Amino acid sequence: MKALILSGGYGTRLRPLTYSQQKQLIPVANKPILFYAIEDVIEAGIQEIGIIVGPNREQVVEAVKGVDWDATIEFIHQGEPKGLAHAILVARDYLGDDDFVMYLGDNILREGIVEHLRHFKGGNFDASILLQEVPNPGQFGVVELSKDGKTIKRLVEKPKVPPSNLALVGVYFFKPVIHEAVASIRPSWRNELEITDAIQWLIDHGYRVGWTKVTGWWKDTGKPGDILDANRLILDDIKTNIRIKTKARIHGRVVIGEGTGIDENTVIKGPVVIGRKCVIRNAYIGPYTSIGDNVVIENTEIEDSIVLGGSEIKDAGRIVESLIGRGVKIINGTSHPFGRKLVIGDNSRLIL
Ligand code: TTP
Repeated sequence: MKALILSGGYGTRLRPLTYSQQKQLIPVANKPILFYAIEDVIEAGIQEIGIIVGPNREQVVEAVKGVDWDATIEFIHQGEPKGLAHAILVARDYLGDDDFVMYLGDNILREGIVEHLRHFKGGNFDASILLQEVPNPGQFGVVELSKDGKTIKRLVEKPKVPPSNLALVGVYFFKPVIHEAVASIRPSWRNELEITDAIQWLIDHGYRVGWTKVTGWWKDTGKPGDILDANRLILDDIKTNIRIKTKARIHGRVVIGEGTGIDENTVIKGPVVIGRKCVIRNAYIGPYTSIGDNVVIENTEIEDSIVLGGSEIKDAGRIVESLIGRGVKIINGTSHPFGRKLVIGDNSRLIL
């Protein structure tokens, strides 16, 4: 059994962050989103992992190689992101005749994939997909089940009239017959080879497609709000681990990395994760905040937010529900003319 983890794609909905970095490397609770997928796959006992890389591929290779994983990892370059099924086509030689799990590198699943893999193996399916009940099925790929609810009849992408509230989660198990399916389908209206079309091909040709329900939380981190949601969900499970001495007032579950200095005028209310070598003075760090390494926060209140490494936030008032990139400066200028002075990237959002 192998794993194919997808870490390509442009991540257009996460611009401007994705102009300079690959979406799957954005940290949630100070860990790249991609690493949650790698950990799930390793936990399921899979030791051969292929990672699909696209734009910014050097970053992904460097980040993954920076960790000593208990698995052999290879990188497979997908020139253009032409769809999830296209990624399988590109990985054809790597996958050979092995069964594999395909895991979208921007998805996070609380319960991991161990039970789902067991179901795939035990049921002798040709493919097995993960489904979750969602309140807004029109925004997802959705399945229509047979009358007895046991088998999948049809998969529909973002249906206007959803046949069920069961959305496709970004984890799929396949036998090698999927290669025939992928080679047989045509690009969709958006010119991508769709994985839903490949699975539909399996169903239409009489292959057995099983499914399991995801019972814990699942997040597809496509948009900024999803990343903040994932951050909240992951922080809900952290355990206190404070590696420094500080006289700051600290409540709740908090993780603080080595070399970080926090003065006695600061209040921290967990769950909060703070990285290494940060400087925090006269600040309030509120629940559901993740702060990367080398960040400076002074005379500012921040909560329910993610701040990536190397940013500086001084005299900035109160910041909530924000996703702040690397090396960002937010300061309160005092020189004339007064007013908001902005140097911000394309497609940034400021809600003032
Ligand atoms: P999407 O979120 O559908 O696409 P995207 O990442 O390009 O984002 P956007 O729609 O905002 O432009 O992709 C799901 C996952 O699959 C994500 O981890 C990226 C990855 N992917 C590939 O590796 N190759 C591809 O060809 C595509 C379409 C996605």
